[in-house]
Amino acid sequence: MGSVSLKIGDGTARFRRATLWSSAVNLLMLFSVITTNLFALYAFTYSSPKPHLLHDSHKNISLISEQVSLILREIDSSQKRLAQMEKDILGFESIDLSRPNIAHELKIFLQNHPLPLGKDSRSGITEMVASVGHSCEKSVDLLSEYMSYKVNGPCPDDWSLAQKLILRGCEPLPRRRCFAKAIPKVGLYSFPISLWKNVSDKVLSWSGLGCKNLECLNGKKLNKDCVGCFDLANGYENQRYVKARRKNDFLIDDVLALGSGGIRIGFDLGGGSGTFAAIMAERNVTVVTVTLNMDAPFSDFIATRGLFPLYLSLDHRFPFYDNVFDLVRASSGLDVGGRPEKLEFLMFDIDRILRASGLFWLDNYYCVSDEKKRVLTRLIERFGYKKLKWVVGEKVNGSGKSEVYLSAVLQKPVRVR
Ligand SMILES: *[C@@H]1O[C@H](CO)[C@@H](O)[C@H](O)[C@H]1NC(C)=O
Ligand SMILES: *[C@@H]1O[C@H](CO)[C@@H](O)[C@H](O)[C@H]1NC(C)=O
Ligand SMILES: *[C@@H]1O[C@H](CO)[C@@H](O)[C@H](O)[C@H]1NC(C)=O
Ligand SMILES: *[C@@H]1O[C@H](CO)[C@@H](O)[C@H](O)[C@H]1NC(C)=O
Repeated sequence: MGSVSLKIGDGTARFRRATLWSSAVNLLMLFSVITTNLFALYAFTYSSPKPHLLHDSHKNISLISEQVSLILREIDSSQKRLAQMEKDILGFESIDLSRPNIAHELKIFLQNHPLPLGKDSRSGITEMVASVGHSCEKSVDLLSEYMSYKVNGPCPDDWSLAQKLILRGCEPLPRRRCFAKAIPKVGLYSFPISLWKNVSDKVLSWSGLGCKNLECLNGKKLNKDCVGCFDLANGYENQRYVKARRKNDFLIDDVLALGSGGIRIGFDLGGGSGTFAAIMAERNVTVVTVTLNMDAPFSDFIATRGLFPLYLSLDHRFPFYDNVFDLVRASSGLDVGGRPEKLEFLMFDIDRILRASGLFWLDNYYCVSDEKKRVLTRLIERFGYKKLKWVVGEKVNGSGKSEVYLSAVLQKPVRVR
């Protein structure tokens, strides 16, 4: 959508009109509520001397109950009309803002704002609408909690609440009018020295996390793609993609050579602390790393290295235009679970943002079962990618069980319709 030219009109006048309008509506609502209640009162007083009336005028019970249910239906439908009127005023359909306990800030954020000069000729829109994930509807209580804060004050220390919402599909989150906690980032190094320098625990945000320092994180297996991945000095992290441990580990230089020089920007869904992006940066390739802060301050850490963290769940459509990336790397995180269609939606989105002849690097994808491997293989084959590398390997894990991993480098075909 193009940009929208906005001229500020007479804001005060519009505000007044809006309040007049809403108090008129409030009066109307009050009136409707009173009349429906009077209706109901009448219905019940009318039917209470039932036996007597029944006897006298030979009216039978079914006739009366028919009338009562008619009145009840009437009350019900006027309540629905009221809710609809409120929705129309707020201009938001999918989240029921007429419910009790909805944070006022949420209503304000979601309110539609008509363009002061009417329809914009370039974009064709007539109002500005706020964007919020439709699944927020399922977690509206949490959302309301998230939107309960002091306007212009400091934001509550609640990013774990925000992440919980995102993981429930409430993405994007609404914007807020409060100041997020600012952590002083002292002692940052300049690029590219920053890529491999230890960062101080103090420049990272630990709120809501079990660990409160890097040493604690390094003693944990955070996920399949991050075992000691915050320790840039010792261990394997500084050798990844440069020295192979197994046949499933491809070297960055080998993969870049497969791209015959055209690899300049990449997208990493592989998780971890940004090491892939760091090594690519040393080869003058810009990589965006998608990450959430699951059990560790991944986003902060990647940014401190001078790399680009994208705080986004894999359920979200990638915020990039078609055919922009020369390379996409994915790892075990690709296993989104659920029905096979879920993986298909993700794979089609990866395919969309990858340019023709670009490379898709599947890096040590953990195949939970043979079935999983078959599903993924069939899916990849359907996309018609050229298999430049394809290695299925086994690894014996900590408890002596053998696990199957798939690594591949695939080239997106040029599709002509
Ligand atoms: C009640 O009234 C209706 C119509 O007025 C009649 O069809 C029905 O048979 C009556 N029922 C009884 C139990 O008298
Ligand atoms: C970096 O931090 C790790 C622990 O997090 C430590 O083991 C290592 O010695 C540090 N390296 C340097 C160069 O300070
Ligand atoms: C990266 O770019 C710089 C500056 O253009 C250049 O000096 C350097 O050789 C390049 N590095 C690689 C690995 O291509
Ligand atoms: C090893 O693999 C088995 C089965 O796949 C799993 O149950 C177990 O938790 C794994 N152990 C480690 C230490 O990863």
